[in-house]
Amino acid sequence: MKHTFIGEISRYFKDRAPDAVRRAIKDAGKDDILSTTYPYDDEISSKTYDRAMDDLQIELVKMQAWVKETGARIAIVFEGRDAAGKGGTISRFRENLNPRGARVVALSKPTEAERTQWYFQRYIQHLPSAGEIVFFDRSWYNRGVVEHVFGWCTPEAREHFFRQALPFEHALMEDGIHLFKFWLNVGRAEQLRRFLAREKDPLKQWKLSPVDVQGLDKWDDYTSAIGETLTRSHSERSPWTIIRSDDKKRARMAAIQTVLSTIDYDDKDDKAIGKPDSKICGGPEIWD
Ligand code: ADP
Ligand code: MLT
Repeated sequence: MKHTFIGEISRYFKDRAPDAVRRAIKDAGKDDILSTTYPYDDEISSKTYDRAMDDLQIELVKMQAWVKETGARIAIVFEGRDAAGKGGTISRFRENLNPRGARVVALSKPTEAERTQWYFQRYIQHLPSAGEIVFFDRSWYNRGVVEHVFGWCTPEAREHFFRQALPFEHALMEDGIHLFKFWLNVGRAEQLRRFLAREKDPLKQWKLSPVDVQGLDKWDDYTSAIGETLTRSHSERSPWTIIRSDDKKRARMAAIQTVLSTIDYDDKDDKAIGKPDSKICGGPEIWD
């Protein structure tokens, strides 16, 4: 089925994209990083990536075995602008895991009934049971960012959300859930390059939505909503890990390394895990 908004991305690129963004995309080679603030010029080589990822996959399998054996519960939240690479990163985590015990939660917009509930209620039923790792592809943070940018929640509801988000997360942790919060940070030109590629590829068009198209003109609104959200929902106990995701491969490695190095599973091989690259992965100070 052809969506009516297919073509809108190329039109935006031609008519409205900022000059610097358009130029960055036009001039770039396939492996070039587009963001001027990114600490590397090129993507990591496939050879280096594949070798590291092979080791990380083995560690993830060990971690899942430990989770099942001990009944641990892990929840991993993936947030980021459209096309930041949330879905791809989650796929890499799950590649060799037993899907029973490594669920993805990607909720649609709330139903009428859900709108009448406590905001966190519909997420709670998807939290991990013993032995499970749950990947949230978007999360309760919709209220901090996309719902605000599109005016789908009142300012009061958003304030209410900010008052409750950290206490909610602290409660989960007090109950023994290991919670990770990743913010994948993609630059403006790279986001547009990904959208253009999705628009051309029949296998990827499903990833585009009217929200993505309308969001193109809301970059700055997103920027301020994100900055505020990261500041107001970051605590020592429930910190954000920001990952620059212009290079998808480095981003995927950093996310997996962060989880593996935090969880104390059996037979862990610290050398195989390595350390997340501090140039692309860190606290809210990394976000720009
Ligand atoms: P995604 O990028 O996750 O594939 P979209 O870009 O279409 O999906 O939407 C972004 C997020 O906004 C999704 O989590 C979606 O459920 C949510 N959303 C879309 N429409 C509404 C709405 N009217 N009210 C609240 N949330 C919405
Ligand atoms: C992503 O790439 O971040 C998501 O998987 C899809 C999207 O945001 O369009």
